[in-house]
Amino acid sequence: MAYAIAIDGPAGAGKSTIAKRVAKELNYIYVDTGAMYRAMAIYFMDNGIDCNSEEQIQSAVDGVDIRIEYADGVQQVILNGSNVTARLREEAVGRMASATSGYGCVRAKLLELQRNLAETSNVIMDGRDIGTTVLPDAQTKIYLTASSDARAKRRYDELVEKNGNADYEEIKADIEKRDYQDMHRTISPLKQADDAVLLDTSDMNIDEVVAAVKKLIR
Ligand code: C5P
Repeated sequence: MAYAIAIDGPAGAGKSTIAKRVAKELNYIYVDTGAMYRAMAIYFMDNGIDCNSEEQIQSAVDGVDIRIEYADGVQQVILNGSNVTARLREEAVGRMASATSGYGCVRAKLLELQRNLAETSNVIMDGRDIGTTVLPDAQTKIYLTASSDARAKRRYDELVEKNGNADYEEIKADIEKRDYQDMHRTISPLKQADDAVLLDTSDMNIDEVVAAVKKLIR
């Protein structure tokens, strides 16, 4: 049977950075489920779909085909035949993903894809509902979090390094809004699974978190 490690937690807790490192060290496949919600969001944006209209979302979902490929171990997301990986991290895409991830039709489509990936390979999968819904039988479950201040500070530093400037208060407000939406939706809200281990990384560096996660897996 394949081994599954589920990492859930709010935006900016460092899930993907940690999961990528651990996957490389253990030779597991890293599955970034947020990227799938983001690819779906790109489709909605490119096709002028109103994120407040369940009817529009519902009929659009049928036209979406998302596939996951790996290039040198790096996850690539193919949306209706086009590789959209380079666009996934745009701020507007993240906002649209958060606004549309509460729809049952969106979640059902991606759930199937996520479970299929975990069936045949050892995976470390990160998201919001992996331990609670997608892989409830995962052998290791971690809830990775950090204070909203710590998460906003990390994102701020990242953006300053990339663009030379950033607005801390705006970043923090965006993170808190995203947390609220993800934790209060009806279907698969973000929450710690009963059998997940809580890891608060507010005062930890990346090496310390990687070591802590590897210890939990052993
Ligand atoms: O993790 P990331 O920021 O890429 O996720 C983008 C959005 O996708 C999240 O804000 C959340 O609304 C949604 N998401 C989700 N369930 C997951 C992964 C992501 O609802 N398993």
